[in-house]
Amino acid sequence: MSYFSGSLDSLITYWNRKYRAEKFKKLSTRQKAVEIVIKEIAPILKNTFLWIDLGSGAGGIEKYVLSKDFNPNIIAVDFSFAMIENFLTPEFVNRIVADARDNPLKNQIADFVSSFFVWSDYPTVKTPLKEFYRLLKTGGYGLIVDYASGDSYWELRKMLHGYKDIVGNINLRTPKEVIRVMKKIGFEIIKGEYISYQVPFDSMPQLITSTELALMKFQNPDFYNSYLEYMTKQIHARRFYYVIGRKNA
Ligand SMILES: C[S@@+](CC[C@H](N)C(=O)[O-])C[C@H]1O[C@@H](n2cnc3c(N)ncnc32)[C@H](O)[C@@H]1O
Repeated sequence: MSYFSGSLDSLITYWNRKYRAEKFKKLSTRQKAVEIVIKEIAPILKNTFLWIDLGSGAGGIEKYVLSKDFNPNIIAVDFSFAMIENFLTPEFVNRIVADARDNPLKNQIADFVSSFFVWSDYPTVKTPLKEFYRLLKTGGYGLIVDYASGDSYWELRKMLHGYKDIVGNINLRTPKEVIRVMKKIGFEIIKGEYISYQVPFDSMPQLITSTELALMKFQNPDFYNSYLEYMTKQIHARRFYYVIGRKNA
């Protein structure tokens, strides 16, 4: 396993782009997963005093949550200036530019810590989950949502990583792998599962142009054949979410 874009430096550069922040204001194919998750965490969030979102992006999720009549105090942490500068609801959210895996926030201040689609960029989930644990009060809750193994769009991008400008070296994990780490850190697993749904290929960001596809036929027939197969299918979106709790002091 390695970093999504090859190295930590290139990952920071990758995310620190204004156009990417603009793109992440929309939930797009993450909408469905986020809706399910909000239902699961609604009872928790309603009474939440402080919510810390690690790898917040440009606030698409915060805006969505606030539109659902939840009223938590929110701290959004992201290492991308572009994301934090272009944040959607800055008047309601405290924002910090920092590495979420080693952030300046004090121990055990949060009632709720979350990450949406962040740690599949990384070779390990252990470091960020330890940070969840450090930030959470005893009795607090965590939530992790991410792209999971079996997601066909990301499997395709993974296969094409490095072809033209395609970045796709994502770490797609099974819930089993993540659960093992959570338990080791000391979390109680409260609820979680795979979320699966179909998305039309056309609705996904297109990875190559028709000219590039024609070229690929000669340059790399294996890629070409796999690509055609994906184009004719619905994309199988696969994500996992876990609600976890910190029981111990
Ligand atoms: C796929 S985007 C998801 C954004 C947001 N959670 C959402 O779902 O709309 C991943 C985000 O995580 C941020 N990120 C990645 N690694 C990070 C780290 N170590 N510390 C803080 N932010 C990080 C990126 O800058 C980017 O904004």
